[in-house]
Amino acid sequence: MVQDRPFGRIGGREVTEFTLANANGAEVRAVNYGGIITSITTPDRQGRLADIVLGFSALDEYIAGHPYFGAIIGRYANRIARGRMAIDGRIYQLPVNAGGHHLHGGRSGFDRAIWGVERLDSKGIVLTHVSGDGDQGYPGALQVRVTYRLTDTNELIVEYEAHTDRATHVNLTQHSYFNLAGEGGNVLAHQLHIDADAYTAVDAELIPTGEIAAVEGTRFDFRTAKPIGGAYDHNWVVNHYDGALRTVARVFEPLSGRMLSVATTEPGVQFYTGSFLDGTLIGKSGRPYVQHAGFCLETQHFPDTPNHANFPTTLLRPGERYHSRTMFAFGVSR
Ligand code: GLA
Repeated sequence: MVQDRPFGRIGGREVTEFTLANANGAEVRAVNYGGIITSITTPDRQGRLADIVLGFSALDEYIAGHPYFGAIIGRYANRIARGRMAIDGRIYQLPVNAGGHHLHGGRSGFDRAIWGVERLDSKGIVLTHVSGDGDQGYPGALQVRVTYRLTDTNELIVEYEAHTDRATHVNLTQHSYFNLAGEGGNVLAHQLHIDADAYTAVDAELIPTGEIAAVEGTRFDFRTAKPIGGAYDHNWVVNHYDGALRTVARVFEPLSGRMLSVATTEPGVQFYTGSFLDGTLIGKSGRPYVQHAGFCLETQHFPDTPNHANFPTTLLRPGERYHSRTMFAFGVSR
């Protein structure tokens, strides 16, 4: 087993970097600060290994602030308009941390929590976190488990589970930024396919209007693979949602031949192209992370669901089990 290593300390607590490795040379590293995936190493079509996610080599750089590189996002991925939500007729005001709205669980979301860790074996870990009643304004104590498992066929399986003791809204995701050519450079020439006929239309502040808009005839139509080409920060309504795992997106990087396919049990995927990166953050290999240095495929329920009765619900009640699964499959093609 590859040695786990100390990754630094925060508030007197040790953070460890865990390495999941298989016999093909693929490797995933993750730390128990924010559940952050710090690196994913996979072979290209010549068998050459490269790290294909953005991140840093030291804990201090993550603590200093970053746009959610590799982190687990919770209690609620993406935005809740003006931080307001109602549950059973009672209004909750969540703190606003992004232009007047609540983003990614608030200022101190799950991406900044120190998670408990259980080692499963050389290819798996379970991260655990308890978000107390009232944490970031949300009702109910939420017990969360996230499992990272690397398979022998180069798939990373992320499984989420949660239970609450009072009704609350939950929407968990993984915020890795991929660059299949190897981190550094931009991803605009990557070819993307998304199996979605529609996306959730948003206003100028990226808040859903409630409209489920057809991609037909728009730049949001990735039903036939095409180069990423520009900026996106939107939620696609993926086809065939019934809670079973199915492939929703595929990305191909022509030079390396690397492919990523994303399968999920979730109804949506936020496709974000790192538009806010501006070259000021320097990555683990010493290169600046310029605009579009990575893309995220954040499998999720739709943004701002608590305020839209026509979206699949994110409400979790006591006695129910939140369960969600996403699989990132890494491969190559000619
Ligand atoms: C999500 C949001 C974006 C941005 C990024 C991280 O994708 O939708 O607006 O916040 O996370 O910066």
